[in-house]
Amino acid sequence: MGLLAIGLSLAPAGAQFRPSDETPDELPAGPGREETFYACTACHNFKLVAAQGLTRPQWDDSLAWMTKRHNMPDIQGQERELILDYLTTHYPPRAPARGGGWRNPFATD
Ligand code: HEC
Repeated sequence: MGLLAIGLSLAPAGAQFRPSDETPDELPAGPGREETFYACTACHNFKLVAAQGLTRPQWDDSLAWMTKRHNMPDIQGQERELILDYLTTHYPPRAPARGGGWRNPFATD
């Protein structure tokens, strides 16, 4: 019975704590939408996430940072892949970057 109690106390608080009335329906439809929404809105608005446009390795770094800095559960395996796929598909870097750098859209070369 002790194990059960521990399991319950580690359950994510996302279900109870909703910092806003955002719902996953407001996000672009696609695989991983709900998983991503609930994983991230446990602590903050999804707007904070949607404001970013990152490559897959950068999203992976963001997740690692959330875990290290803010104690986000260390999501691994298939669920992490799903979330990274979702974020990379719908929130990619805004300007097409070659070699990872920002390029001036007005550059003539
Ligand atoms: C355990 C809590 C927690 C969870 C879960 C969490 N974050 Fe965060 N995140 C934070 C905190 C705290 C901040 C800083 C908020 C602020 O700047 O006010 C933050 C900020 C951010 C930022 C803004 C960083 C910047 O430099 O402006 C991004 C992007 C982000 N989180 C992405 C995510 C993503 C993606 C997920 C879901 C996979 C996620 N977070 C889940 C705690 C969390």
